[in-house]
Amino acid sequence: MIQELKRIIYNTVVEANRKMTPREVEKAVARAAGVDRKTVTLAIKNLVSLGELTYTYLYGTSFLERSFDRPVQASKRIVIKPPDKVYQTQPGEVVIDIAGGAAFGDGAHPTTCLALRALDSVLGDNRYADQKAPMKGLDVGTGTGILAIALARLGVQKVVGLDIDPCAVSEAIHNVSLNGLAEQITITNTPLEELATYFSIIVANLAYPTLKRLSSLLSEKMEMGGVVILSGFKVSVCEDLAKAYAEYGFKVIQQEMERGWACLTLCKMALTHEGI
Ligand SMILES: C[S@@+](CC[C@H](N)C(=O)[O-])C[C@H]1O[C@@H](n2cnc3c(N)ncnc32)[C@H](O)[C@@H]1O
Repeated sequence: MIQELKRIIYNTVVEANRKMTPREVEKAVARAAGVDRKTVTLAIKNLVSLGELTYTYLYGTSFLERSFDRPVQASKRIVIKPPDKVYQTQPGEVVIDIAGGAAFGDGAHPTTCLALRALDSVLGDNRYADQKAPMKGLDVGTGTGILAIALARLGVQKVVGLDIDPCAVSEAIHNVSLNGLAEQITITNTPLEELATYFSIIVANLAYPTLKRLSSLLSEKMEMGGVVILSGFKVSVCEDLAKAYAEYGFKVIQQEMERGWACLTLCKMALTHEGI
């Protein structure tokens, strides 16, 4: 019974489409499970002491959230963990160490999770997994380097991660080295327009106006048949963004949502004179 209650609490927190306060979680779970709020409060405290959930504070309000101070399964194959935590890797799993810091990208935000899941899905597809030519990947707005590391760990031979923030660049370099990938991943602040390479896969977790502005440039840097994963925007602008990329021959092949955030996976096709 207590295990089932803890499962309901955990799922309520993780699956909510916004941050929930401890009170809101207590109320929702007490109603769903038909138990009194005191029992729910005790079970929440237990989940916090086990490190499964944690309290966070934002603008004077406390929230209950999934804890990332332990290994967390971010997608079917990807597990994110702090470097000091031990994890027994299961067959087929990819474990990524991310050190705590100031840069965005510890795996907790839905936009990062969505991008990780999309990467896992695309690179697990036989079409890419069996590809003979070496793949080149680009992560625009790399933050901690989490998506660049995922690209490399999921089989992309050469990866570039770029960011305009010097703090992110330095943290990403540290994380790349923590994961033993310094030979495979280059982290840089070189502007996107100055990169002289074409990529077979690009991932970008950026604000909506930036993603829209970069559509032509990302198309320029992309090989025909390549895939771009866009994250960092709300469901409400998803259609508009897909339209902006369609102008450059990108076709939506996958779309996912979490907590009001959306993620698009698009494939670059040859443009016909009627468009696509
Ligand atoms: C939302 S964070 C994403 C971090 C990480 N990739 C993730 O998915 O968790 C966006 C990052 O993009 C960087 N950024 C913003 N605009 C950029 C641009 N035009 N070119 C490169 N990086 C940019 C920011 O400095 C920030 O580190």
